[in-house]
Amino acid sequence: MRKCGMPTSSAESGRPPHLLEVRDLAGGYGGSRIISGVTLGVGRGEIAAIVGPNGAGKSTLIKALLGVIPAIEGVVLHDGDDVTNLRTDELARRGIAYVPQSRNVFATLNVEENLKMGGYLLNKKDVGDRIAEVLATFPILTPLMRRSVHKLSGGEQKLVAVGRVMMMRPSAYVLDEPTSGLAEQLSKQLLEEHVARIAESGSAVLLVEQKVRAALETSSWGYLLVSGSVKMSAPPQEMLTSSVAEMFLGQTAGDAQDPGLKQTAGVQLGAEVSPSFELDK
Ligand SMILES: Nc1ncnc2c1ncn2[C@@H]1O[C@H](COP(=O)(O)OP(=O)(O)O)[C@@H](O)[C@H]1O
Ligand SMILES: [Mg+2]
Repeated sequence: MRKCGMPTSSAESGRPPHLLEVRDLAGGYGGSRIISGVTLGVGRGEIAAIVGPNGAGKSTLIKALLGVIPAIEGVVLHDGDDVTNLRTDELARRGIAYVPQSRNVFATLNVEENLKMGGYLLNKKDVGDRIAEVLATFPILTPLMRRSVHKLSGGEQKLVAVGRVMMMRPSAYVLDEPTSGLAEQLSKQLLEEHVARIAESGSAVLLVEQKVRAALETSSWGYLLVSGSVKMSAPPQEMLTSSVAEMFLGQTAGDAQDPGLKQTAGVQLGAEVSPSFELDK
């Protein structure tokens, strides 16, 4: 695999070097290009938030990063390796975990079975240790191990989804709207307690969120994605008070966690209300 020796742009801002990054990434569906020229990244111990209105291309960006759809242009780098257009399972082997926006748990299986599915590539003897690691990070799951996932609350299901990918001890996590469908207080808790804990353990977390304030308050860096391009890359505090973010999010970024629909500057800011927890594909 080609090593890429180019310095990352993160050095200037005092951030750690990017562990996972995209440069000039373009992607879309069929003939249509949804994102283009996207350059961003995240380092070890960081949470970098990608925020933006509904339909901005956040999920598309994540899918092009993770080989779910082809990257038409640009590169994806992990730990200096060019991993552009590698399949998601190959990326998982390399330590890049993906938690999609929906269909991220096996609803009919119990918590323990879900965690075991996440460790299917492991040697059998390691599975128990890895489950113990997940439970040490998310102790709230311990008494729920034998419960079917569809009987859990939305927040608990999200932890199972993250715990499942945690089984492979990834160095980088890509989380697509982990708070979708969760109430405001629960969203804040998920980000501040659980997602923060993942970054504190030294992993890199790329976090896509529509709950802008909660996401930025938990993150060390923010990217604003609008119409498929990065319109702003800044420290979270700067973004929270920025008129640019305000313009594109239709309100002070600080208030944007309001799940009510708001129509401003031609974009609609809304939150998913009914997440689906179907079987994974
Ligand atoms: N599977 C798909 N096929 C065709 N177009 C899609 C598909 N998924 C998303 N899109 C389009 O791509 C654009 C960006 O969507 P998406 O990346 O899901 O935005 P976000 O995650 O920021 O809400 C939207 O116009 C959407 O209709
Ligand atoms: Mg999305």
